[in-house]
Amino acid sequence: MKSKDLLSISDLSSEGIHSLISDAVDMKAKGWLSLLDGKILALLFEKPSLRTRVSFEVAMRQLGGQAIYLSPAEVGLGERESAPDVARVLSRYVDVIAARTFSHQTLEVLASYSSVPVINALSDLEHPCQALADFLTIYEKKGALSGLTLAFIGDGNNVAHSLLLAASLTGMNFRIASPADYRVQDRILHLAQDYAIDSGAEVFCTEEPSSAVSGADVVYTDVWASMGQEAEADKRRQAFAGYQVNSELLSLAKEDAIFMHDLPAHHGEEVAEGILDSPQSVVFDQAENKMHLLKALLAEILGGLEIPLTAYR
Ligand code: NVA
Repeated sequence: MKSKDLLSISDLSSEGIHSLISDAVDMKAKGWLSLLDGKILALLFEKPSLRTRVSFEVAMRQLGGQAIYLSPAEVGLGERESAPDVARVLSRYVDVIAARTFSHQTLEVLASYSSVPVINALSDLEHPCQALADFLTIYEKKGALSGLTLAFIGDGNNVAHSLLLAASLTGMNFRIASPADYRVQDRILHLAQDYAIDSGAEVFCTEEPSSAVSGADVVYTDVWASMGQEAEADKRRQAFAGYQVNSELLSLAKEDAIFMHDLPAHHGEEVAEGILDSPQSVVFDQAENKMHLLKALLAEILGGLEIPLTAYR
């Protein structure tokens, strides 16, 4: 793997996460910058996207670069053309690839055959760009990461995995409430528990949403059926009944707790009607911050950070 691939949060250190957040704070204040003139990003997507696709495209444009979006039908990754061949061809044209794949293994294959950096724009295992943007939002709202408590309610999925790793690296306590059959993967949990030894974070898994949310600073949820799991939607709706974030559950968190969701949201399922519009909700700040964070990430990966970026730290 090239040193500048970002396939997992575990590719970063705690310092790396803090530095990206710091740079993103500066990027947000400065707006348009000519840091990536002449640079081109390929967006290789096997699944739908609104926020990630648009924020990558706008991030490149605001930094003077360009993006090319390649839809599932155009490329036929692994069907019309093999992942190794796609990686080797794109590497001859572009400076960086952001890929959204069903299988995390496809991303690993792309990264191993690409001669340019590969960024995980969501796989079945992780969504690192989402977690980094969310940590920027938490930092903005709370002024810190370490020592806070994030409660994730629902599926131990790609978003939960990346948040768990980011929290355990940065010293944020992470509690997750999931039904027994939908826990985070053991491998990710063990990695997080190792990180937590150094950072001092507490990691706690439960089946009881109220135990997770009690006294939390951040309450987070995501869809019960992720992209690619549509056929399981009914079964999952039954398994997750009782895991909805509603005002009753939220009232157990700290009085100044924030509510987060990576979107798209299914109003009335994982989140009760009206919660996204409540004063506690920061979901649209999260969506905006993905663009600022991606600017920092792309500038870091493509070596365009020529200005002193000083905020935070
Ligand atoms: N867990 C969701 C995240 C969407 C941004 C999914 O993979 O569909």
